[in-house]
Amino acid sequence: MDTFVINGGNPLRGTLRINGSKNACLPLMAACLLTDEPVTLVDVPNLSDIRNMMRLLAALGVDLELVEHGEQNTVTLTVTDTAEHTAHYDIVKTMRAGICVLGPMLAKRGEARVSMPGGCAIGDRPVDLHLRGLEALGAEIELDAGDIITKAPITAGSQTRRLVGNTIFLGGPNGSTVLGTANVMCAAALAEGETVIECAACEPEIADLANMLNKMGAKIEGAGSPRLTIQGVEKLHGVTHQVIPDRIEAGTYAIAGAMLDSDITLTNYPTDFLMALHDRLDRTGVSMNIDSTNNDGSSEYDTVRIQRPEQLTPTQIVTQPHPGFPTDLQAQMMAMLCLANGNSLITEKIYQDRFLHVAELARMGAQLKRSGPSVMVAGIPEFIGAPVMASDLRASAGLVLAGLAAKGTTTINRVYHLDRGYEKMELALQKLGADIQRIDDRG
Ligand code: EPZ
Repeated sequence: MDTFVINGGNPLRGTLRINGSKNACLPLMAACLLTDEPVTLVDVPNLSDIRNMMRLLAALGVDLELVEHGEQNTVTLTVTDTAEHTAHYDIVKTMRAGICVLGPMLAKRGEARVSMPGGCAIGDRPVDLHLRGLEALGAEIELDAGDIITKAPITAGSQTRRLVGNTIFLGGPNGSTVLGTANVMCAAALAEGETVIECAACEPEIADLANMLNKMGAKIEGAGSPRLTIQGVEKLHGVTHQVIPDRIEAGTYAIAGAMLDSDITLTNYPTDFLMALHDRLDRTGVSMNIDSTNNDGSSEYDTVRIQRPEQLTPTQIVTQPHPGFPTDLQAQMMAMLCLANGNSLITEKIYQDRFLHVAELARMGAQLKRSGPSVMVAGIPEFIGAPVMASDLRASAGLVLAGLAAKGTTTINRVYHLDRGYEKMELALQKLGADIQRIDDRG
C-alpha cells in the first residue's frame, strides 16, 4: 500500500486545472444503461473509483473506449449485451457508488440484482430511500443473500416489464439522498407516465445528470431543485456530454491555498457550486480573486486566485445537503481551522461518524475536542509532522493539507483512499512546489 512522504512548509505557487467531477461521472456512466446508443463523456478523471465503475459496467455488457486527450480523458460507453442483470459484490464492495446502476438497469432491462453496498469508514450507508423510491415506481423488491433483487411490473396485456410513474417523497433523517435521487430519476425517465420526486437532492452532480438525460431525450424539469418532475418516455438516445468540474477537488485546493503560504491559481473552477465554502472562507479572512471572463475559451467556468491571509479567523461549520456546506469538505476545513487564531466549531450533520481524521490530526498537534456530532477546534500555531493513517477519501485529503503546513516530515499510509477521488494528487502538488513523494509499498 502506497505512502505519501511530505516535508511541510514549502510555499505553493502556480496554476492547476480542476478535473471533471468523480461524483458526477459515476451516475453519468451508469446512465449509459438507459440506451442502446453510445454515451460519450468528456473530462473523465483517471481515478480508481472510475476504473471500478468501468469494470462493473463491462460486466453488465457495456463496451468501453477510453481516449486520453491530455488533460481531458474521454470515455465512450456502449451497451452491447443486456443479458446480465447482476452487479456482483466483488465490485460493489469496493465502491458504494456501484449502487447507481440499480435504477438504470431496472428501468431498461426490467430487472436488476445489485449487491447491497457495505458500510464504510464514514459510517453505515443505508439504501432504504433508494428502495422506497423504486418501490413507488412499482418495482418488486426482495433482499436475498446480501443482494437487492428488483423487477419492474409486467405491463397489462403484454409480456414486457415497465415501471410506472408516481409521486415520491425521497427525504430521509439527514435530508435528501444524492445517489438515491440519481437512481429514482433514471428509473422514472423510462417509466410509464409522470413522476414527481419531492425532496430530491440539489447537488450539481444531480443537475448535471438531469441535463444529460434531457439531452438523451428525457423530459425532466426542476434539475438542481428539491422537486423534480419527470415525464417518462419510451426510449433514450445516445449523447456526448461534458462533465462538470469536481467541486470537492476544487474546494480542497482552495482550502490548501487558504491555509498554506501560497499564491495559487485554479482554472476550470466551479465557483457557483461552492458558495457555501466561499462564505466560510470569507469569514476566515481568505481573499479569492475570481475571474469569470474565460478569455481563452478553455472552460465555461472560472479562474480563481487564492492567497493565504496574514491570519485565519476562526468560524463555525455545519455540514448540510447542497447548497449547504458540503460534508466532503469537512475534514479539509478542519485541517485549516486548526491554524486559525481562536476556537472554531464543526458540526457534521450528514455522516455523524465522519471524524476519523480527528485522532490523526491530533497526532500532528491539533487541539480537538469531540462532543457527539460536533468538534471544537482550538487554534494552534503550527502542525508538527508525524506518521498518520488515511482512513477515507476526504479524511486523507485533510491529512495531506495538514502535512503540507506542518513543521517537519509527515508520512501518510494507505493513500489508496486518496487515489479514489484525487488524480495523482502528489504530482499536482509537486507542480505547485510542495515537497511530497509517493513511496510505493515496494519501497
Ligand atoms: C454522495 O453519496 C457522495 N458520493 C458522497 O461523497 C457524499 O458525501 C454524499 O453524497 C453526501 O453529499 C457520490 O456521489 C458517489 P447520500 P450518497 O445518499 O449518495 C442517508 C465522497 O467523498 N441516507 O446523499 O451515498 C445517509 O446515511 C463521497 O466523494 C439514508 O438514510 O450519500 C446520509 O446520512 C463520500 N438512506 C445522507 O442520507 C438512503 O437510502 C446522505 O447520503 C440513502 C442515504
